[in-house]
Amino acid sequence: MTLPRPPGDTGRKPLRELVGAGIMVPLLHGGEAPYANLDCAASTPSLAQVSARVAEVLPWYSSVHRGSGYLSMVSTSLYESARTTLHEFLGARADDVVIFTRNTTDSLNLLAKAAPKGGEVVYLDVEHHANLLPWQSRDSYCLTAARTLEETVERLRRTLEKREVPLVAITGASNVTGETVPLSSVVQAAHDHGARVAVDGAQLAPHRRIDLSALDADYLALSGHKCYAPFGAGILVGRRDWLDEAPAHLAGGGAIERVTVEHTDWAPAPARHEGGTPNAIGAVALAEASLVLDELINDGSIGAHEAALRGRLVAGLGSIKEVRQLRIWEDSTEAVGVVAFELVGHDAALVAAYLASEHAIGVRAGKFCAHPLIDRINGGRNALRASVGIGTTTEDVDRLVDGLKNYLATAPLEGYSFVDGSYVPDGYGRSAPFPAVDLRDPRRAPLGAYRS
Ligand code: ALA
Repeated sequence: MTLPRPPGDTGRKPLRELVGAGIMVPLLHGGEAPYANLDCAASTPSLAQVSARVAEVLPWYSSVHRGSGYLSMVSTSLYESARTTLHEFLGARADDVVIFTRNTTDSLNLLAKAAPKGGEVVYLDVEHHANLLPWQSRDSYCLTAARTLEETVERLRRTLEKREVPLVAITGASNVTGETVPLSSVVQAAHDHGARVAVDGAQLAPHRRIDLSALDADYLALSGHKCYAPFGAGILVGRRDWLDEAPAHLAGGGAIERVTVEHTDWAPAPARHEGGTPNAIGAVALAEASLVLDELINDGSIGAHEAALRGRLVAGLGSIKEVRQLRIWEDSTEAVGVVAFELVGHDAALVAAYLASEHAIGVRAGKFCAHPLIDRINGGRNALRASVGIGTTTEDVDRLVDGLKNYLATAPLEGYSFVDGSYVPDGYGRSAPFPAVDLRDPRRAPLGAYRS
């Protein structure tokens, strides 16, 4: 590669230690290579600090909110202090409530039940399905984004003038192109017309400061598995009134104040929506990750690291004439480390399988749970997406660019079978890190496979 290196160490080494960094994976034609994880927009590895914290608290794990034993008291307190940490991390207002969920999808489904009936919830056609499907099941209006951000906000403003809108649900950063949305303009437009704003922060939160008070946004959803805490917790944060009135998201133990055979008095939020034993370990993991993100966002290192890597990736892809990079807005100037592209004339799923099995590179191929957007900006064709995180290095980016060039020099390929919408290299049957893993057909496993 002849691309310029960014100044100093920016992008050359991981910002923090991650679990699994440097893990070796087998190559189709023999040997191994360190895994280049360029799929951070989907799931990030665990920070080493997060996994250490989980290991530290696990011996103290016990029943949350329910037991009188010493360990239960410790666990309850850890769970509630995780809530406070996340409240602070996101600059939430004193009366905002933090509800632990499974992930962003769960959070936005909860909010969809809480948003008052009447009027239409407005969302853009660029949204991830997590911020699209929950609104389709109620009165809502899908606004087609314009070719510029400026005109998109203007369209939103005109829509708000004409319709009765309780809520605008909008992404902070596209999970397809990484482009960010001018949230303060959206909040201003919405509030001018009496609507609230919910931000799908799944892609923004791992990369940028989100201060709910300063932004004046009303709700925010995010996922632990995209914030270096893949332990099954996400959150919904925001204004209490709707959440206190909403039907319980998960009806069950802990969500109530009093139950008779005929009637239930529900607890206020957050308990109202956290029925069943809460995921205390997931909550602690997410809070720990937020401490690290807080530091790396505050000192500017995440911004510099990811800008250097994104710039290098965009330049590298630009050097390949068959690559067409996708973008939504002509005037967007800000983006997180997520880049989608097409290798024109080539099957994205096959390219992704080739990169995985012959170069040990993990990217995502497909429509990225954003079908309406891909229909509009890529004619409905599958695309490829590379996304970086705090563990990504310039070497990972260069390997992707080289891998694509090698693919173009090698294609068409043989030795791959099409299974369940993906290509699986025929030779993968021979390699698996655990007996329960079957790489010939990873989405299926016979009974008993887990123990074998
Ligand atoms: N929401 C994740 C993505 O965009 C899974 O890949």
